[in-house]
This record gives sequence, C-alpha cells and structure tokens, in this order.
Amino acid sequence: MAKIFVTRDIPDHGLKLLKARKGVQVSIYKENKAIPRGELLKRVKGVDILLPLLTDKIDAGVMDAAGPKLKMIANYAVGFDNIDLKAAAARNIVVTNAAAPEVSESVAEHAIAMIFALAHRIVETDTWTRQGKYKGWGPKLFLGSDLKGKTLGLIGAGAIGSAIARRLRDGFDVEVVYTDIKRNEKLEAEGAKFLKQDQLLRHADFVSLHVPLLPSTHHLISTKELKLMKKTAFLINTSRGPIVDEIALVKALLRGDIAGAGLDVYECEPLIDCNPKDTYELRKLPNVVLTPHTASATVEARQAMSVAAATNILAFLDGKQPPNVLQIK
Ligand code: GLV
Repeated sequence: MAKIFVTRDIPDHGLKLLKARKGVQVSIYKENKAIPRGELLKRVKGVDILLPLLTDKIDAGVMDAAGPKLKMIANYAVGFDNIDLKAAAARNIVVTNAAAPEVSESVAEHAIAMIFALAHRIVETDTWTRQGKYKGWGPKLFLGSDLKGKTLGLIGAGAIGSAIARRLRDGFDVEVVYTDIKRNEKLEAEGAKFLKQDQLLRHADFVSLHVPLLPSTHHLISTKELKLMKKTAFLINTSRGPIVDEIALVKALLRGDIAGAGLDVYECEPLIDCNPKDTYELRKLPNVVLTPHTASATVEARQAMSVAAATNILAFLDGKQPPNVLQIK
C-alpha cells in the first residue's frame, strides 16, 4: 500500500485520479489553512509520497520525520523554492513540480491584467470613483498610457513569458525584448529581441519577471536595477517575492524612480511589506496594484495543477519517469 499525504485540500481532479488507483491510500490535511509545522512533522511519518503546497517548507527535517519510506515529493506548485532539492537528492527522493500549460496561461493573463491595470490606472481610478470623488469629466483627469507601441521587457522567457509576449505582440502591437540564461529561439523567430538585463531595464516600458527563485535570482531587482528603469516604466512580479528587494522597491516608488508596480508575490509573504517598521507603505501607494498570490488562481489552472501532481505520482508508482522531475542545477 502506497501512503500519500496531501498537506491541504486541493482541487479534486487529481485527487480523484489518485483515489481511483488500487493500492494507494490518500490522506489529506483538511483544515482550511497551511498545515502547522508540528502537525506536518507528525503527519508525514511513514508516508511514501508527500504532496505539499508552496506554503509548506519541505526541508531535511520534514524528510527525516517522514522516514526512509519517503520516495517522492510531488509539489502542488510550479515554483519549488519551498523544497530543499539537495536534501531530497541526498535521500534519493524524487521531486516534481506541477507545471501545466494551463498554469502558464493563467499567470500570463494575470500579468497582462496587471499591465493593463497600471497603464490605464484601473485600480486607482476605481478606488477614487467609489470614494465619490468624480465630479465631472476633465481632459487631463487620470491620464494613463496606451500599450500600443510600448516595449515589454521579459526577465525570464519560458512558457509564461512567451505566452505574455505573444498575446501583447499580436493583440496590442507591443514590442518584446527579453533576457534569460538561455536564448529562446522560438520567441526570437516571432520577433522578440534578446538583450542583456541592463539594456532591457533601460529600454522596457513594462518589466515582467518570470524566473524561479534561486540563490542566483534572489534580489535580482534592487536599487541599481530600479534606477536603470525609465521613470515612466512599470515593474510586474508574478514569480516569487524575494526576486525583488522590496525595501528598495518601496524607496524607488517613493522617489519616483519608476512609475508603478504590479505585485502578486511579496518578499515577506504573507506580509505585504518587508519594511522593518511595518508601515505597509506598499499598500498606501496609489500606483501599485496588489494581488494575494493569485496569478494562477483560476479553476482551470488549479485543477490542472492537481492533475499534474497526480500524473507525476502515478507515473512514479508505475516505475516511469514522472513528467515534471526537478533536477538540482
Ligand atoms: C505558484 O506560485 C506556483 O508556483 O505554482
């Protein structure tokens, strides 16, 4: 009997696949909150496969609490910074993520929604209008900017970045530049131009981040990078919070180094602001659009992630290579 422990009640499509499998016992932490560490350490004991969420830190302590039967960790997330891949490799534990095309689509749409919200000042004007401040049309009231003719700068041009590029280029005549550790020939054939990161930051009107959180990408965007950006440019982060030095970002926004930001993720998540004085400056800034790590929160994407996690597990149980195995880089 293969024991699978799921750390929270996730959308059901994948769970149904697992439960339909003979010789598998699925148990789920049913509370509607992230599993507390102590509870996690207790519940993993003796399991063969762990299906955690991005909110669960899966380190050597958890792996050892599970014991020698633990052979697989199937993350219910595309990001994998919550898992210690080295500790897993040292214990011969296979780790997979929940990459699925639907997730890329959903995150791409969310990033695009933020770009529109910032360019057309949607959230700011919605708040103002609700406050009863609209007293009459004016030719200079809340001037924003069009997307047409502007430049999108992608830092990271994998599936999500490419999906954003195609939609904005085909639908809105946006020029696309990108930077990445490897060239994306397909994207270049579609008209995107490769630039070094500094050149991209100087050139782009919308800088959107799509890299995993690794030691090499921690604080990839800090004071120096923000100063390179145009004063009229916007930063969009739907990847992981610590890729942006958030205190530097707040300072840059307050100084007017950039025009605004769209953030779905936060450096000290679930706190919205890492400012040591806890002043929540980000929340006070009108030119910032904030969402609660919901870029992939569509029914389609979250069900696809459930199926991806289950598909990885079922392949592993069949002795096959799971589709989304993560390797240590
Ligand atoms: C969400 O942030 C994910 O990594 O799936």
